[in-house]
Amino acid sequence: MTNTSAQPLSAVPAGSDLKPVLGDQGLPLIGMSLDFMRDPISSMRQRYDHYGPVSWASLFGVRMVQMIGPEANEFIFRNRDDVFSNNKGWDYFIGKFFHRGIMLLDFEEHRWHRKIMQKAFHRDVLKAYIERMGPAIISGIERWSVAPDFSVFKALKQLTLDLATDVFMGEELGPEADQLNQAFIDTVRAGTSIVRYPVPGGRWAKGLRGRKVLEKFFRSRVAAKRHSNGNDLFSVLCRAETEDGERFSDEDVVNHMIFLMMAAHDTTTITLSNMFYYLGKYPDWQQRIREESLAISQQTGSDQLGYDDMDAMASTTLVMKEALRLCAPVPSMPRMTVKDTEFAGCFIPKGSMVNVSPFFTHYMAELWPDPFRFDPNRFSEERREDKVHPYAWVPFGGGAHKCIGLHFAELQVKAILHQVVLNYRWRVAPGYEMPIDTTSLPVPADGLPMILEKL
Ligand code: HEM
Repeated sequence: MTNTSAQPLSAVPAGSDLKPVLGDQGLPLIGMSLDFMRDPISSMRQRYDHYGPVSWASLFGVRMVQMIGPEANEFIFRNRDDVFSNNKGWDYFIGKFFHRGIMLLDFEEHRWHRKIMQKAFHRDVLKAYIERMGPAIISGIERWSVAPDFSVFKALKQLTLDLATDVFMGEELGPEADQLNQAFIDTVRAGTSIVRYPVPGGRWAKGLRGRKVLEKFFRSRVAAKRHSNGNDLFSVLCRAETEDGERFSDEDVVNHMIFLMMAAHDTTTITLSNMFYYLGKYPDWQQRIREESLAISQQTGSDQLGYDDMDAMASTTLVMKEALRLCAPVPSMPRMTVKDTEFAGCFIPKGSMVNVSPFFTHYMAELWPDPFRFDPNRFSEERREDKVHPYAWVPFGGGAHKCIGLHFAELQVKAILHQVVLNYRWRVAPGYEMPIDTTSLPVPADGLPMILEKL
């Protein structure tokens, strides 16, 4: 660690036998941000070994309490007594770009919005989404070029964006597609800016500009969507209502659409990229998945995956779970305490920024045997290593804010992989190890080059 002279985060209330949270500042101005962004696992491991499950560090310009491990995950996600605010945690990072997205709402207000949004993720609606996706996946992957250095990440990002615009917005985008894609990239990357004010050309300024582009785009369409009876997410959100007939306002719909597009797009692309990487490295698993998909197509007589075929993709489920363990697309989640609280014998005062870290939890040797090894069978019924603790495997978070799109994500990942294994074979170059860029959401730093062959 950069600086081992531990300092208390705060004083402890008089008469309390709790300890203060200890931690250290790191380098002037940037604190521990660079260490954390370059190598989050080693950086967290050092802190955990030195301080235990609770410590503080200066990250992204703020003192962050690191609460590490499955017990910490459980304590924060279950959030008994409404101690942890999502809004005050996320707002610092992405509030300017994703304000009033559902993940940034708290407590009673969040529950109200979630109840309405849940309608857009009901089983019957998901069925309609997957039917819509099938033809778009087929035409999307037909364009893939057979090449010795095919950039998987770029291709998947394009495909998931095309699917999202179709399934979420119910339309094909024209020339504005590139501008919209760039706006999403900029708004997401802005969240981890070290310089948090709009220097021209900087991440923050680009994020603000991106948000404006997105608002204009969704606002211009909301009135028409109110009158449509389409089965795309945008139309469904406009129609969704509580039992008392309460609906989202136009502004709510715009804010939720911007957030949903972001929440769905990058996370699914990252998951698929990791699955492609490991399947390119472990051809036996790729073949196993292909055989499952062939069996499904033979049985159903269709190339397209239906909602009810999902369960038959048992090997894909294992690989997806392992890929999500090895690279949690949302590597950490901020919260802020709105009341004094205590954890592991430490006093955490109201107003503390707190960080939950699925990324690190998923590599804890205390929980996972041989944690750096790709081993999908660890999730098999015989082994179920994830059962070591209910909050050991948390790529989708937990509690009231647990990912609302987790079934959607599984559907989309399976539907894409199904088509790809039936049409292509791929592998990585000998000795290739995928470098991960962890400066924002964890993405392949080199675009993930693959040797792609048509079957
Ligand atoms: C593999 C893909 C995905 C992963 C790993 C993932 C991960 C997560 C995580 C960790 C959270 C919790 C954040 C927090 O508690 O602070 C979350 C929330 C959320 N996700 Fe996902 N997500 C994925 C796909 C999706 C998709 C496809 C959608 C939409 C179609 C979606 C929509 C949402 C929404 C709306 C929330 C906020 C829920 C709330 O605050 O009530 N996600 N996601």
